Amino acid sequence: MYRTHTCGELSIADINKEVTLAGWVQTVRKFGSITFVDLRDRYGITQLLFSETLNVEMDANPLGREFVLQVKGGVNERSNKNKNIPTGDIEIIVSELRVLNKSAVPPFTIQDDTDGGDDIRMKYRFLDLRRNAVKKNIELRYAVNRAARNYLHKNNFIDIETPFLIKSTPEGARDFVVPSRMNPGEFYALPQSPQTFKQLLMVSGYDRYYQIVKCFRDEDLRADRQPEFTQIDCEMAFVEQEDILQMFESMIKDIFKEVVGIEYNEPVERMTWEEAMWNYGNDKPDIRFDIKLTNLKSPFREIPEKQQLAAATGFNVFDNAETVIAINVPGCSDYSRKQTDELIEWVKRPQIGMGGLAFIKYNHDETIKSSFDKFFNEVELGFLTDHCKAKRGDLILILAGKEERTRKAISDLRLYMGERLGLRKPEEFKLLWVTDFPLFEYDEEGNRWVARHHPFTSPKPEHIEVMINNAAEIKNADKYLEHPYANIKANAYDMVLNGNEIGGGSIRIFQKDLQQKMFTALGMSQEEAQYKFGFLIGAFEYGAPPHGGIAFGFDRLCAILGGSESIRDFIAFPKNNSGRDIMIDAPSTIDDKQLDELNIKLNL
Ligand code: AMO
Repeated sequence: MYRTHTCGELSIADINKEVTLAGWVQTVRKFGSITFVDLRDRYGITQLLFSETLNVEMDANPLGREFVLQVKGGVNERSNKNKNIPTGDIEIIVSELRVLNKSAVPPFTIQDDTDGGDDIRMKYRFLDLRRNAVKKNIELRYAVNRAARNYLHKNNFIDIETPFLIKSTPEGARDFVVPSRMNPGEFYALPQSPQTFKQLLMVSGYDRYYQIVKCFRDEDLRADRQPEFTQIDCEMAFVEQEDILQMFESMIKDIFKEVVGIEYNEPVERMTWEEAMWNYGNDKPDIRFDIKLTNLKSPFREIPEKQQLAAATGFNVFDNAETVIAINVPGCSDYSRKQTDELIEWVKRPQIGMGGLAFIKYNHDETIKSSFDKFFNEVELGFLTDHCKAKRGDLILILAGKEERTRKAISDLRLYMGERLGLRKPEEFKLLWVTDFPLFEYDEEGNRWVARHHPFTSPKPEHIEVMINNAAEIKNADKYLEHPYANIKANAYDMVLNGNEIGGGSIRIFQKDLQQKMFTALGMSQEEAQYKFGFLIGAFEYGAPPHGGIAFGFDRLCAILGGSESIRDFIAFPKNNSGRDIMIDAPSTIDDKQLDELNIKLNL
């Protein structure tokens, strides 16, 4: 037997016991004739004390960091207790030492505050995983996995695996493809999600399916995106949207309780996509803080006359803009010139891309000062302050420009100010359902309509006619918002947690004819639809039940619960921002023989 106990479990109650431990050397400290070693394993750290002959032996064969040891000895009460670790009351007086393996000097310290930079830690990820901070994340991930499985099992869902080598099912990203040796010139695609398979399982009668499953998407990476990531993927038959929202909001609440001990008893707030865009400029608003947008001018929706900006204000920036939107930032009316300049620079950064920022200070003494006093008299400024429902002490920030960019910019500015004012509290969790998403999305590059979620999402029943009776074609790209497709809504929903999209799903089309019409609406010919999705359309001929589902971003959920922005910290072996695994050095070239077998010639 290699060990009788772990390095995290011995306490005062075990004094005088003879034990055997095994683990890694965290630190070695020599004090004359005795040596202390901290021995670490997955469960904790135990102090070892070597004296007399063993200590002399160690002078000849010194132990180094990360050596793997097995020690036998007696549990002793420590004279100098360490209150910071659970085993801090005891130490092991070592009687026998076996070095099970030596270690090269690790390239960084295996500690919470390591001296290793990102790249070096990723190259030696197997060492990084020994660090407590990373281990905690991996354990949290397992806890989320377990809680989700328990919940789904309790509710009659069954876990069914679906294939990884499939046919391309475009869902907005590029596919990773795999050449087939046995079928020269043909390729598999790795699934962007098991979407079509879970729908087929509904046709097969498995009315509650789930899978915690890898998905592969060749898209640009960010802190919350990986080329291979994991979903908690679910589908149900004989359900309406409400059934799905109820089922999965309970699942997330269960996970909160099990994993972070939070009782989330209130119902999850809901808002439509339009409300989210109108009030927050964003389809995944962080509702932990209450700042909302005031829309002063927009082509997107009618603004009641009393709340809108006059048609001509004399201030070009407003007069020439398609959209003017403001936010009130509480308690910031006393911002200095330096602070407002900072905000102006912030919105001018390329990521935000605005030409400038206008502001009004509604001072505590009720005076009003703005950055455009030249163009607005006091009465006009008073009106504007009223429109914005500002209170004394508020700083009103105003952006003007093209609709989409301005809405996105003000939403980013809202988050930035929320962060600056400490309103985005990391310990607070706020869930939100966003519903009634648009069915289509305008694709600027291709000047065409694409499915916003995926082509299997059902339109709102009252919008089906508009979908069928209008062509997908866009004649004037500038006016795409006026195309009837811009207003078609879907039975689609996202779950948002603290401003992050943690899940998304929809009620599906289950009638063959409607699915066919959806493909037509997306500009696909009958032949193309048949080639790409014939298997699904075919299956819909054999008694497809009404169905719908959702998939949660498992990595994202874990990261947010663990208080991190980056999902990489919660994946054992992640890729870097260029999609590389620098530990195993992938992707990499393959040799000519392999290429020959695959009938592939490189054209580099
Ligand atoms: P969707 O594409 O919205 O839906 O994905 C579901 C959730 O997966 C997470 N996610 C990602 N996480 C990490 N890296 C990525 N590259 C990445 N892309 C997405 C997000 C997202 O909310 N088949 C549909 C689901 C359905 O309709 O049932 C789908 O995949 O948190």
